[in-house]
Amino acid sequence: MRTIIEPFRIKSVEPLRRTTPRQREQFLEAAGYNLFQIRSSDILIDLLTDSGTSAMSTGQWAAMMRGDESYAGSESWYRFEHAVRALTGFRHVIPTHQGRAAERILFSILCKPGHTVPSNTHFDTTRANIESNGARALDLPIPEAADTQARISFKGNLHVEALENLIQAEGVSKIPLVMITVTNNSGGGQPVSMANIEAVRKVTRRHGIPLYLDACRFAENAWFIKRDESGYSELTPREIAQKMFSLADGCTFSAKKDAFANIGGFLCTNDSKLAEQETNLLILTEGFPTYGGLAGRDLEAIAVGLEEVLQPEYLEYRIASTAYLGRHIADRGVPIVEPPGGHAIYIDAGRMLPHIPREQFPGQALAVELYRHAGVRSVEIGSVMFADQARHELLRLAIPRRVYTQSHIDYLVEAILEVNERKDRIRGFAIVKQPQFLRHFTARFRPVM
Ligand code: F0G
Repeated sequence: MRTIIEPFRIKSVEPLRRTTPRQREQFLEAAGYNLFQIRSSDILIDLLTDSGTSAMSTGQWAAMMRGDESYAGSESWYRFEHAVRALTGFRHVIPTHQGRAAERILFSILCKPGHTVPSNTHFDTTRANIESNGARALDLPIPEAADTQARISFKGNLHVEALENLIQAEGVSKIPLVMITVTNNSGGGQPVSMANIEAVRKVTRRHGIPLYLDACRFAENAWFIKRDESGYSELTPREIAQKMFSLADGCTFSAKKDAFANIGGFLCTNDSKLAEQETNLLILTEGFPTYGGLAGRDLEAIAVGLEEVLQPEYLEYRIASTAYLGRHIADRGVPIVEPPGGHAIYIDAGRMLPHIPREQFPGQALAVELYRHAGVRSVEIGSVMFADQARHELLRLAIPRRVYTQSHIDYLVEAILEVNERKDRIRGFAIVKQPQFLRHFTARFRPVM
């Protein structure tokens, strides 16, 4: 059989509430045209993020019931630590309540003013945590990534030559670590090849700079390597993931993505001295090192999720489903970041709406229109999120794991194609009010007339 099906069935359902375009216009006005400010009950299909929105399995729910909520030495912690160690091979595992807590602890120890932290592309919280410590977050994607339409494999790769040049120019002492984000979320959800991780590894090792993976979507990345990189088709996703981690000195991880958990994360390192400093900070702000701000039941859900996410049937379905959405809109004229990535489809809103200048936020305009038209929530990844650091004006349609069915995806295709048909009538936005950091969460907008 050729049909790829969801490798699960549904036991517990959540009803979806339909609203009318007129109601949604009112919700938009009240929210200052910021979709982060809309109530989830007023949304039909929520593609704001794939983070913390996964459906958990019966295995995860069962494990949660045995959560050991002891303050110190919890059995759940030992199961969690074992699962993380067996996967990543790192010596020290530090649990955190989510990915950005791991980032904050890591960067507040390693980053000082005058430092630069290069990455293939930093995500918003990663960038903000580096910058709030006075350092510079620098994106070094491969030049081919600049063309959203180029259909090449492993478009998430880091530009190794640019990294080498940066180290020469800045000096080793100014670069406390190098990061690789797998998959490259802000760069279109594109994967990074093993060859690229190995090449970066070579450079960082030669200069004695630690290499970290921002490993949120490690399993999806491993599947792309298995599918598209020569020499890996016979390896299991788990073996590939283990090899990816073995090339790094540490990682940050949000368990809200490729661990099917609703909350959680961790920070890993092989450096014992650093681990001690990190643990001291952890106790100060997150919690004791055997729970790190999580309940014992959360640790259990993550431990099980880390196993489940590497099942080949799941990854095959996951990547095929995302590609289906991408191909069905792109082949009918909606410009997406090609080729389709792992967890999301990114519409190139700058290209789709050339009549809206970037100062009027084409990605935001498209997000608002898609909600107004079809009740679908998505997120702008462009000048609203990254101001003048934005490389493209994108609209991200992030797909929660194991949550939506094929007919939901078909509804999305129809909605996006309908919006595309009358794209000339979409207008831009101006920002009325914004905070200093991470403005996309709380900014208010008004339509430009
Ligand atoms: N790194 C990457 C690549 C991410 O995508 C995220 C979160 C984080 C770090 C931070 O993790 O949310 O657990 O603190 N990305 C979510 C998203 C929010 O929608 O892409 P967190």
